Amino acid sequence: MKVTCGTDIIEINRIKESIEKLGKAFLDRVFTKNEIKYCESKKKQKYEHYAARFAAKEAAFKALSWKIDDKYSVSWKDFEVQNNEQGRPILKIIGIDLKDIEDIDISISHCKSYAVANVTVLTK
Ligand SMILES: CC(C)(COP(=O)(O)OP(=O)(O)OC[C@H]1O[C@@H](n2cnc3c(N)ncnc32)[C@H](O)[C@@H]1OP(=O)(O)O)[C@@H](O)C(=O)NCCC(=O)NCCS
Repeated sequence: MKVTCGTDIIEINRIKESIEKLGKAFLDRVFTKNEIKYCESKKKQKYEHYAARFAAKEAAFKALSWKIDDKYSVSWKDFEVQNNEQGRPILKIIGIDLKDIEDIDISISHCKSYAVANVTVLTK
């Protein structure tokens, strides 16, 4: 059994600027439909939630990088952050073989300026 973790921090303004400049093309490249729906529901705070999901994808990549031979084979939308009824985030992974992964957990935090995410992976 092995534990690996990945963490990421991002300036919320960086994501805000990308969304303002590139709009839907950027959103559709990086975020899933469910993520866009969740973030847009947060109205004025939406950039914090988008940035948190961006950080989550980077953190997930770091935590799983030992399994990824070619980083260009993974896309942003291979990782999706969902939230359960209590608001707790859950990381869904689509494009990566998970047969030797026992469990994955994620934690997210954001304030006015920064968003952070931490992903922990437990192997079988
Ligand atoms: C849910 C809670 C932890 C969020 O913390 P916060 O400081 O308001 O906000 P943060 O920016 O740090 O965290 C927000 C993220 O927390 C995550 N989150 C929300 N509910 C959660 C829960 N029940 N469990 C774990 N993570 C949760 C989400 O990922 C959210 O981001 P998202 O909406 O973009 O997905 C907080 O509102 C809360 O209820 N705290 C309880 C405090 C308390 O009772 N303290 C007593 C002593 S411990």
